[in-house]
Amino acid sequence: GDETTAGAALLAWYDRSARVMPWRVGPEARATERPDPYHVWLSEVMLQQTTVAAVRDYFRRFTERWPTVTDLAAAEDADVMAEWAGLGYYARARNLLKCARVVAGARGGKFPEAAAELQKLPGIGPYTAAAVAAIAFDEPAVVVDGNVERVVARLWAVQTPMPIAKPELVEKAGRITPQARPGDHAQAMMDLGATICTPRNPVCALCPVNAFCAAKAQGIAAELPRKAPK
Ligand code: ADE
Repeated sequence: GDETTAGAALLAWYDRSARVMPWRVGPEARATERPDPYHVWLSEVMLQQTTVAAVRDYFRRFTERWPTVTDLAAAEDADVMAEWAGLGYYARARNLLKCARVVAGARGGKFPEAAAELQKLPGIGPYTAAAVAAIAFDEPAVVVDGNVERVVARLWAVQTPMPIAKPELVEKAGRITPQARPGDHAQAMMDLGATICTPRNPVCALCPVNAFCAAKAQGIAAELPRKAPK
């Protein structure tokens, strides 16, 4: 149906326009190569409450100093905290190290592939579990962050206010998540939300899925998602 066509248009746009990030596989290798699960996990933890622009250099320093999750697990706590300085939310760094030690120890250096297993690890919540499962392991997990919520609310012109709309948005996000390339799909939704389907002044003319967007058809994209009155 429409969801399949919209999903295909979004992936085609991602192939042309994906933002380059040090934890992503480049366009030439995307069809055959998966990104390193350690890189995906590290970037997703860093990206919680921190922008892509701010995370870039931290990610590079971490992966240069600790090229594998086993290297990170063996690091001194103080060295990791010092490299983390400036990213904020220091509980994230402590959980990062805890998680690295579980993966390097009990799991022999390999991250579990299923979202349900990933979520049992320290510091990995439902969002991060879904993102790592989809991006690193091609599991068709439904990845929903704030950007994705906004894109979905607009595609279906969801009038229910946030946060009441959340379950409805997750269900709809699932409908456009393809079985093939779910990780690229998730990152395409994030890129779309960050660059075109922005909170204010969305640039609908440039949107690869504008033909499927109910909010655009109704001229209300910029008004969605709605917020419950306080
Ligand atoms: N925000 C969180 N994870 C991201 C990713 N993989 N790509 C772009 N933005 C993100």
